Amino acid sequence: MCGIVGYVGYQNAVDVLIDGLRHLEYRGYDSSGVALYNGGKINVYKAQGKLQNLVDELKKQDPSEIKSNAGIGHIRWATHGVPNQINAHPQTCNCGGLTLVHNGIIENYAELKTELENAGCKFKSQTDTEVAAHLIAYEYAKTKDLISALKNAVKKLKGAWAFCVMHKNEPDCIVATRKNAPLLIGVGENENFLASDIPAIIKYTKKAIYLNDDQITKITKDKIEIYNPDLTLSQNKVEFLPFEPMALSKMGYKHYMLKEIHEQPDVVRNILQDKIFDEISDIKLKDVKLTKEEIKNIKRIQIIACGTSLHAGLVGKYVMEELTGIPVDVEASSEYIYRSTIADKNTLVIGISQSGETADTITAIRQVKEKGAHVLIITNRNESMLARLSDSLLHVNAGIEVSVAATKSYIAQLISIYLLAIFIAENLGKEKSILNNIKHELLLLPSKLEAILSNASHIRDVAKKYSGYKNFIFIARGINYPTALEGALKLKEISYINATGYPAGELKHGPIAMLDETMPVLAILNEGRVYDKVMSNCEEAYARQAKLIGVANYIDDKHKQLFDDYILIPEILDMVSPALNVTVLQLLAYYIAEYLGKDVDQPRNLAKSVTVE
Ligand code: F6R
Repeated sequence: MCGIVGYVGYQNAVDVLIDGLRHLEYRGYDSSGVALYNGGKINVYKAQGKLQNLVDELKKQDPSEIKSNAGIGHIRWATHGVPNQINAHPQTCNCGGLTLVHNGIIENYAELKTELENAGCKFKSQTDTEVAAHLIAYEYAKTKDLISALKNAVKKLKGAWAFCVMHKNEPDCIVATRKNAPLLIGVGENENFLASDIPAIIKYTKKAIYLNDDQITKITKDKIEIYNPDLTLSQNKVEFLPFEPMALSKMGYKHYMLKEIHEQPDVVRNILQDKIFDEISDIKLKDVKLTKEEIKNIKRIQIIACGTSLHAGLVGKYVMEELTGIPVDVEASSEYIYRSTIADKNTLVIGISQSGETADTITAIRQVKEKGAHVLIITNRNESMLARLSDSLLHVNAGIEVSVAATKSYIAQLISIYLLAIFIAENLGKEKSILNNIKHELLLLPSKLEAILSNASHIRDVAKKYSGYKNFIFIARGINYPTALEGALKLKEISYINATGYPAGELKHGPIAMLDETMPVLAILNEGRVYDKVMSNCEEAYARQAKLIGVANYIDDKHKQLFDDYILIPEILDMVSPALNVTVLQLLAYYIAEYLGKDVDQPRNLAKSVTVE
């Protein structure tokens, strides 16, 4: 949520900042701005709406005014104050001498605002961020030193922040700090960078330093200083960034989402490659630090996550309980935080998060750590805050996911869950033949995913036919119930069509009242334990004139006439089928949204990393 960048170096800062912001657009896109150091003054440019509006605004400026070797930039996802030009960042102090960009939320901004107003500050925006600009300027007036001013100011703040700050009296340098919000330093030659995330800087450098909470850094073009909260110098390690700039290209696809769906077979191959060698050998998970003894002592498993990651966790419940016999609870992180949850040293807590940055999940995991539970994090970002909080780590290795709607990271999370469940079951000495059968199915999965992708044109035709409907119901039972939830979420987030997932058996307990010819029902059917039951629920929907779409690995001739349309997937074991079924639903949502002309990769009101609670 919100992306920030900073640059000091030999290049024209505005070009590097705009390029960086473009790669952070997944974090917010309702307004943007830059501040550029220009001969003893700081020029600020801001625009409402997409980043292109800022680019257009900059084109209108006198080139000598925007020429600069140091600057900061921001792309916003509004929390406090409507998304307009005044509320866009950078925010400045009264005299315009100090300017800053902020990612996070200042929870006590209202009290601080009153104090600052009483001290004579005039506020222009409705943002919480402007408080920080005035406060740091107020402290700077006392010390004339930006580092101590920042240190003294943040002591008064409550909440989460990453700040990049510039002052007109401190030429060609940026001072920055963070707490519970991401910020990394890109290490260049004759240039240095600050950014919320790797994509903003990967084109320029593959070396980065991660700041710890409350550390302060000052960067110039040839120097990086890092200070601990007591202002002693720190030597943080320089790390090698794992991504290739190529990963940020659409590679000819119209949208990142479509590209990322098509990457799924390779994502699965990637994740399996060093963990399953064949179906009979035991699974290797090198960063899972649980000993055999500790695994035997696990009495319960709790899975905490949000959104799509929560749906992966729900699949995890079915898989883990079936394979390990250990009871599993799954809960949205935002709910987990606010009740008295029971966890102790015999609890395995699994946090799932693509970004590793989701504020709700971070808070929940921090709570759990205090109770002594073993924390295992499944994430796509092994340099993230959640990864750093983990006792054990499962890096899903899906590669950078740019589209706001999660696709390939979901499949990668599912695979990680299967691997983890088999790993635990093997350590508990569970029946090998069942586990080996699942490994066999996982090894076949990439080619089955390829078969679905090669049938994308049929899914596109079905999508076109249903793109005019305003409501959708997704139903399934058992392990595909979370698939129904995820299919509905994908459709609503990118097409804004009202879609809801239900356990198929629940239809008759209320939702059936909504069924008529205006309500398509998408049913997920897999040969196995619940096939006949879901088919009976389809009969009930058919009897109410609902349009029926089947996503199935098998439909017998007698039942084919129930369906207005059906999409067949390859034969697959019921337990592994969510990974195939969801791919169909991702494509269906994608093609509906694309047909409706929606902004698929950047749906309204959303941001990819949700760093506020
Ligand atoms: C939906 C989506 C979100 C995220 C959720 C959690 O497509 O992407 O629902 O799944 O915001 O994010 P992470 O997984 O980064 O914790």
